[in-house]
Amino acid sequence: MCGIVGYIGERTAQEVLLKGLSRLEYRGYDSAGVAILKDGRINAVKRQGKLSVLARELASNPLSGTMGIGHTRWATHGVPNDTNAHPHLDCSGKIAVVHNGIIENYLELKKYLKKKGHRFISDTDTETISHLIEDNYKGDLEAAVRKTTAILKGSYAIAAIHEKDSGRIVGARCDSPLIVGIGKGENFLASDVPAILDYTKEVIYLENHDIVTMTRSGVKITNGAGRVVKPKVSKVKWDISQAEKCGYRHFMLKEIFEQADVLQRILDERIRRGRIVFDELKLKESDLRCIKRIAIVACGTAYHAGLTGKYMIEEYARIPCWVDTSSEFRYRDPLVGEDTLVIIVSQSGETADSLAALREAKRRKAKTLGICNVLGSSIAREANGVIYTHAGPEIAVASTKAYTAQLAVFYLLTMYLASLRNTVKRSRLDSLVSQFKKLPSLMEDLLAEYKSDYNKIAAYAQEFKRYYHEKHNKSYFLYLGRNINYPNALEGALKLKEISYISAEGYPAGEMKHGPIALIDENPWVVCIATRSKTYDKMLSNIQEIKARGGIVIALVTEGDEEILHHSVNYLVELPAVEEFFSPLIVVIPLQLLAYYVALEFGYDIDQPRNLAKSVTVE
Ligand code: AGP
Repeated sequence: MCGIVGYIGERTAQEVLLKGLSRLEYRGYDSAGVAILKDGRINAVKRQGKLSVLARELASNPLSGTMGIGHTRWATHGVPNDTNAHPHLDCSGKIAVVHNGIIENYLELKKYLKKKGHRFISDTDTETISHLIEDNYKGDLEAAVRKTTAILKGSYAIAAIHEKDSGRIVGARCDSPLIVGIGKGENFLASDVPAILDYTKEVIYLENHDIVTMTRSGVKITNGAGRVVKPKVSKVKWDISQAEKCGYRHFMLKEIFEQADVLQRILDERIRRGRIVFDELKLKESDLRCIKRIAIVACGTAYHAGLTGKYMIEEYARIPCWVDTSSEFRYRDPLVGEDTLVIIVSQSGETADSLAALREAKRRKAKTLGICNVLGSSIAREANGVIYTHAGPEIAVASTKAYTAQLAVFYLLTMYLASLRNTVKRSRLDSLVSQFKKLPSLMEDLLAEYKSDYNKIAAYAQEFKRYYHEKHNKSYFLYLGRNINYPNALEGALKLKEISYISAEGYPAGEMKHGPIALIDENPWVVCIATRSKTYDKMLSNIQEIKARGGIVIALVTEGDEEILHHSVNYLVELPAVEEFFSPLIVVIPLQLLAYYVALEFGYDIDQPRNLAKSVTVE
């Protein structure tokens, strides 16, 4: 939700800021702006719309200057327009601020500031920050920011500049991410690593309540208690090419096609001499042996990975497990305590609800484990232990490779717990490990079938569009799965609706008769996950029931399935044979591709779907 950047050095700030913002556009894209300081004057330009609108404006009327701040917005307070776009200035126009997060007490602060004579021009919560800094400024920007943040309630990552402090950018964070990039004779501030990777790989992950003051030649960080701290500088291991499209039409497609490699990397890293290794776990084996239950807490796609994890853990590690969406967990009275392991799953590691759920679990003395993709993210740092998914940067808003990486970690964790608690025979575990190792190449072969845009699933998507128009836009999707593939039915539906805006629901197939079957006429397209499993025959009956009522069926089946041919399904997708336990990793591929190609057919903005943002750092 919103991306911020800051630059101070020798380069043209406009270029650095625009490049940084382009790498952060996944965080929000309804308006963008920059403020650049030159010869003791701040010049701010902000535009409603995607970054390209701002870039065009700046190409015609460039701003010179070598320090500045920038912002790409996902609106919370105030509609997307030029005025509500960041940076926000104070009354005098001498201070500029960019902000990611939500200031919960902004109305109260605004009232107070208005009484003191401050004039507001936007509907945003952020504008209160620039006026507060103005109010608190006594010749020292850092001190003014410190005084200001002390009275803010809510979440923020901010960057501020002042005309009279022309050699400094001041940043601060609380519950929204902010990193510092260290260069030679230049320094950077950003919401996320890709924004600065063109210039440096040396990064400082700021802690909550840190305040950073950057000059060209140095960085000073003070913590919440006002003490100067020696920051830990980390080296980013991945390359900027991983955050580029590399010839693919969309990041989503690129990320779908990266999945076999991601899986291979995870296996290479985590399985050594047949044993599962989690170097960074930090939780004691003795603690993991004693836990009595597991709660998995997450949002969206990560929640679906967690649901699949429950099937795995209960089957092999035999630990009672439940799964909650973070927004529910944090506001009820969950039964977690010292004997509970709470696993928070989050690609970004910054999702506000998941972070709050983690804190709630810690407050209740549960042991906590984060499964995160982004290194140094808040959830990764605050949980007692962490397992990184190492999927590389995921840029498309619709999550794909992070999901399969989360599934992979759940497989490994299940086997690890099963071995620790002796719930499965060694020979069975060895067989699971060796089957798992075959998955990357099976996935690779499957993906190879879909390399060209003229593939079977793309053709089905075309056919859907034709049918949709024929039925006067009344068609929609249902996804049915059972057992360990039921969460994939939910995930398939989520992928489709978030990028194609077509209604889609996922159900456990056995629930059809309890209500959803009433929906079936000739309008819905029903994606049935009918790969070989212990409930295969039941799924065939579901397919019959749908066909009998006029529904259009796309069946995902195991290669060589001849029985399905007797059921006159409309469309077939064949998948390589794997044991049911591992099938979610294979089944999800056509679901992702179907969502992609339907959105492509309808001509939507696949990587930046409307109303969404990649990391949801607000409630
Ligand atoms: C997935 O396609 C979504 N964009 C969304 O549901 C996402 O998975 C969710 O917001 C959770 O994000 P996180 O994994 O970063 O916590």
